[in-house]
Amino acid sequence: MLKHLSLIAMAALLALGMGLADQGNNKITLTANKTSPTSGRQMYTSYCAPCHGTDGRGNGPVAPALKVPPTDLTVLSRNNHGKFPDLHIVTVLQNGSELRAHGNQEMPVWGPIFGKMNVSNPQDKLLRISNVSRYLETLQVK
Ligand code: HEC
Repeated sequence: MLKHLSLIAMAALLALGMGLADQGNNKITLTANKTSPTSGRQMYTSYCAPCHGTDGRGNGPVAPALKVPPTDLTVLSRNNHGKFPDLHIVTVLQNGSELRAHGNQEMPVWGPIFGKMNVSNPQDKLLRISNVSRYLETLQVK
């Protein structure tokens, strides 16, 4: 059951990454909304909240199906001496989480996914990464 849910999540992300719906066998495709690259909130709600939760605490609907719990995104600043770690976040979104090196594949690498959303404008990807990061900054607890 858990494994199945996890596959659904993966299928959804794959479809998102390829920008088309996957009609394949036993996979259910969740349609990821198109979002504006200027709205961090909209992107967060569509692409991050399923795992990290609307409030960022890591309790999204897909979370129970993951082997590694999604990071609590509200304490990024608290865990970094009170300063929002913007460079780290941009790097994670662009290249993936470092934890992946230890065998975890559950946090998608967003750079290539965002990159495919508007191939004719390379700036679009950077704008998305920057605005998602800024939105995360607004979720920080004091
Ligand atoms: C399929 C579930 C899933 C989705 C969707 C997802 N994440 Fe994650 N995320 C995880 C998991 C699991 C971890 C913890 C393990 C890890 O870091 O690899 C994580 C970790 C993170 C981290 C901490 C990484 C670190 O090394 O400090 C950040 C930041 C993050 N996610 C941001 C995002 C953002 C922003 C989005 C949306 C654009 C997003 N995540 C979408 C599952 C997800």
